[in-house]
Amino acid sequence: MASTITTPIYYVNDSPHIGHAYTTIAADFMARYQRLQGQNVFFLTGTDEHGQKVDKAAQLKGVSPQALCDDVSQRFRALVHTGENILNISNDDFIRTTEARHKKSVQAFWQRIQQQSPDAIYKDNYGGWYSVRDEAYYQESELIEKEGKKLAPTGAEVEWVEEESYFFRLSAYQDRLLELYANHPDFVFPQSRMNEVKSFVQGGLKDLSISRTTFNWGVPVPDAPGHVMYVWIDALANYITALGYPEDTTQRFHDFWGETPALPGHAVHFVGKDIVRFHAVYWPAFLMAANLPLPKQIVAHGWWTIEGEKMSKSLGNVLSPADIIARTGGIDQMRYGMLRAMPFGNDGDFVQDRMIEIINADLANNIGNLAQRTLSMIFKNCAETIPAPSDVQPQDTALMQHVQQLSIAPEMAVYDYQGALEKIVQAANKANEYIDQNAPWTLRKEGNQARMETVLYTLAEVARCIAIHLLPFCPRAADALLQQLAVPETARNLTALSQPLAHGIKINAPQGVFPRVEKQSV
Ligand code: MSP
Repeated sequence: MASTITTPIYYVNDSPHIGHAYTTIAADFMARYQRLQGQNVFFLTGTDEHGQKVDKAAQLKGVSPQALCDDVSQRFRALVHTGENILNISNDDFIRTTEARHKKSVQAFWQRIQQQSPDAIYKDNYGGWYSVRDEAYYQESELIEKEGKKLAPTGAEVEWVEEESYFFRLSAYQDRLLELYANHPDFVFPQSRMNEVKSFVQGGLKDLSISRTTFNWGVPVPDAPGHVMYVWIDALANYITALGYPEDTTQRFHDFWGETPALPGHAVHFVGKDIVRFHAVYWPAFLMAANLPLPKQIVAHGWWTIEGEKMSKSLGNVLSPADIIARTGGIDQMRYGMLRAMPFGNDGDFVQDRMIEIINADLANNIGNLAQRTLSMIFKNCAETIPAPSDVQPQDTALMQHVQQLSIAPEMAVYDYQGALEKIVQAANKANEYIDQNAPWTLRKEGNQARMETVLYTLAEVARCIAIHLLPFCPRAADALLQQLAVPETARNLTALSQPLAHGIKINAPQGVFPRVEKQSV
């Protein structure tokens, strides 16, 4: 099975912060989990570099838009696998919309819409409200009024624009979109967002202006001098550009994107709640017009605030990914804490002390302690070798079976990362109770070597299964633990869960994988 997982491509008007890191980590959890299940995953991220917002940011800085893009794009790239990989992300590609491969692809996409649906794109004059911050058009009726000023419903400033423009006949896609949602009720996840999208479309769709003439920082519209594409049509197309569209409409494109035009294929787009409409309404409509397969699902998450406050430059509370790593004690801890702290989909508040409490309780005191106690007892008392179980009792078998058969598949199928992590922690809880009940240190004192070795083997087996389950979430620590248990790389996946830990293998002096994080040290 093949699938595509994407993050939004990030605007380069600003440096990366906690919100960007969160979307990317959530997508990485799923990409790594699916690979662990044996799926062939194409995981894509990148930067969105055209449009008025980036153009204006460059003007403010007194640099060319290209220079700004080159600089800021590098900061996003540094977070992921194609760069320094600060967030330990397993992406396969990083796309920039200013790359030649993208520009060529998005122009071909535009032309394909014209060929496949000759009525879909037409030229007219546009007069209406535009928000540069949101890169979005708004109806007069959507605007709110604050201190005598008209604002977008998001609170962003709007300006009146009048220009010649190409339009996309979005209004003609209302019925087909509603049919799509009816036939695929989980096209948008969670359900509450699906309902919002449905009622937006039921309310009627206006045609969408998809080109601009009053600035030139964009992809030129084919055969239309003076027109650059609206940044969202350019940006959304990144998802197929990176799969080689248009040349690669062959096997790879079909495997990773989809086979059947106008039906959901294999791509899952992770997005924040603010950009659901673009992904769940505009994007499928463009793809229907182009007669190409649609994404499988749009997965929307909530927004973070920081210690109760909205994040903003003026408040000076914007947290960079590096800030959060420093505050949570490490990259694995940050990844774990952010997805464990709140249900995926909901808004969340980053409260540093609370985050550290979760990390210490689950990772340091529970899983880390279990692994460290087990491995150091084995190292000291079993000749530095994984012992063989010989005196096996029912409680040993019960615990081993519990962890070998542990499955987070039901939780992962509905993006319930919190539930999946809780399940893993509960398995570790069970093992900690087992240690206390079976007290291997007492067995050692009593000289009951056979029973002690059996208990320690059981615990090492538990640590192996927990480490395999943790691979998508805390990849470094999980890998380090599997290394300490001498589990070969080929056996670090879900199918290997049922192959018990080999015994008689020498281990190195164990090192803690989840140190305690001190609140005052950050
Ligand atoms: N460039 C567009 C996406 C184009 S995708 C074809 C864009 N970029 S963005 O950089 O502004 O935002 C990217 C993502 O970051 C969005 O999913 C957004 O929801 C997310 N976040 C930005 N601030 C956030 C928080 N404070 N909390 C959580 N996520 C937030 O939109």
